Amino acid sequence: MDYDVKDINLAEKGLEKIEWAEKRMPVLRKIRERFSKEKPLSGVKISCCLHVTTETANLVRTLKEGGAEVALCASNPLSIQDDVAASIVKHFGIPTFSIKGETDDVYYAHIMKALAFKPNLTMDDGADLVGSLHMIAHERFEALHPAVRQWVETLSEVERKEFVDNIIGGSEETTTGVIRLKSMEREGVLCFPIIAVNDAFSKHMFDNRYGTGQSTVDGILRATNVLFAGTKFVLAGYGWCGKGVAMRASGLGAHVIVTEVNPLKALEALMDGYAVMKMEDAARIGDIFITTTGNIHVLRKEHFELMKDGAIIGNSGHFNVEIDLDTLEAMAVKKRRVRGMMDEYTLSDGRRIYLLGEGRLVNLACAEGHPSEVMDMSFANQALCAEYMWKNGKKLEKKVYSVPEEIDKNVAALKLASAGVVIDELTEEQRIYLASWEMGT
Ligand code: NAI
Repeated sequence: MDYDVKDINLAEKGLEKIEWAEKRMPVLRKIRERFSKEKPLSGVKISCCLHVTTETANLVRTLKEGGAEVALCASNPLSIQDDVAASIVKHFGIPTFSIKGETDDVYYAHIMKALAFKPNLTMDDGADLVGSLHMIAHERFEALHPAVRQWVETLSEVERKEFVDNIIGGSEETTTGVIRLKSMEREGVLCFPIIAVNDAFSKHMFDNRYGTGQSTVDGILRATNVLFAGTKFVLAGYGWCGKGVAMRASGLGAHVIVTEVNPLKALEALMDGYAVMKMEDAARIGDIFITTTGNIHVLRKEHFELMKDGAIIGNSGHFNVEIDLDTLEAMAVKKRRVRGMMDEYTLSDGRRIYLLGEGRLVNLACAEGHPSEVMDMSFANQALCAEYMWKNGKKLEKKVYSVPEEIDKNVAALKLASAGVVIDELTEEQRIYLASWEMGT
């Protein structure tokens, strides 16, 4: 089996962690039990480009139990857990291509390995796999990473076409990936249907909010060990992720300041009890800055120029573009790593700015990502959407689809059941009342 992991001997340690996560993923476990009996994914090849974590290990083994052949590469060079990658190869027989800290060249070479697997379904977190595929399909070679471009240029036109022709459909895990895919759909370049798993209620209301909320704070704490209580914590972007981060930072006693560009979200933050202001004003007073916008250069030169000595900055949005890192590098007269995942940038006037996790998702680069309990729901959606796409993909158009409502509700119902929670059902009288327009008082 072809694979590329840091050290296969780390597999036993990885397995212990995967089993610990498995215990806290009852919904995915239930799906795996059914998949192993029914084999609904028989005959399908799935290429996954996901954060290589213990929860992902449980997802890919579920797909395999369902009868699929699976290949896995990373969706971020810093979110990889090397022991988990080794175990996925050794214990679950899944070709895995990921090494924590891999360079961009290696990152994209690994994506190519997952593509060369010739999948029928794709599963992405951030759309790097599908994005590369589309650049190949539309011969936009200049937009490809140079490492990929070199490889693609050695292939014949027929071989290049085969990549897309084999594919029935795909799914996308995160907000940023969905934004990229919707822009492909708008431009009429999307080559196959994709389900936006992120948009399921049972995904973003829990994973983005509670998962990113807890794990972002976890990442900051592991990287810095600072006391939150009493600090001014500046959060850029009050979307699903931002709400969770603000809630948890506030719970630890930080004074949360929100910056936004959407008046509705800004108003929501204000009424949730946070201070709201422009980044230009927040930059002067903040102690810790976290971005969760999915946007580019939210923290940039004009903000670095205003920050206090000792300001800590990090990002929990998908790509490492939310902080203008090139400018920070250019402004610094000195840079050194002061703790495992924190770099100190000294500016010409002597002020120091501390960057977490090289500007990559702080919760995955500096901690272990979302807790298994929330990934249970996200990945239950992924597994069920793979089954749905394999059954129905040929009937779908080249569009971005929502997760079917029955899957979304089923995941929530299974999660409640696994927690032993039983909820009310509508009475007949209530059903009639809700369906009628004549009944007033
Ligand atoms: P969202 O769309 O719910 O929220 C983004 C918010 O940022 C919006 O309210 C938007 O108005 C605001 N925003 C955009 N530009 C801004 C700017 N210049 N300044 C201030 N605010 C701005 O998106 P969601 O779901 O919260 O995701 C945000 C990012 O986090 C995405 O990149 C997503 O892929 C990523 N993500 C990261 C996770 C992690 O594990 N760290 C997990 C899930 C999502």
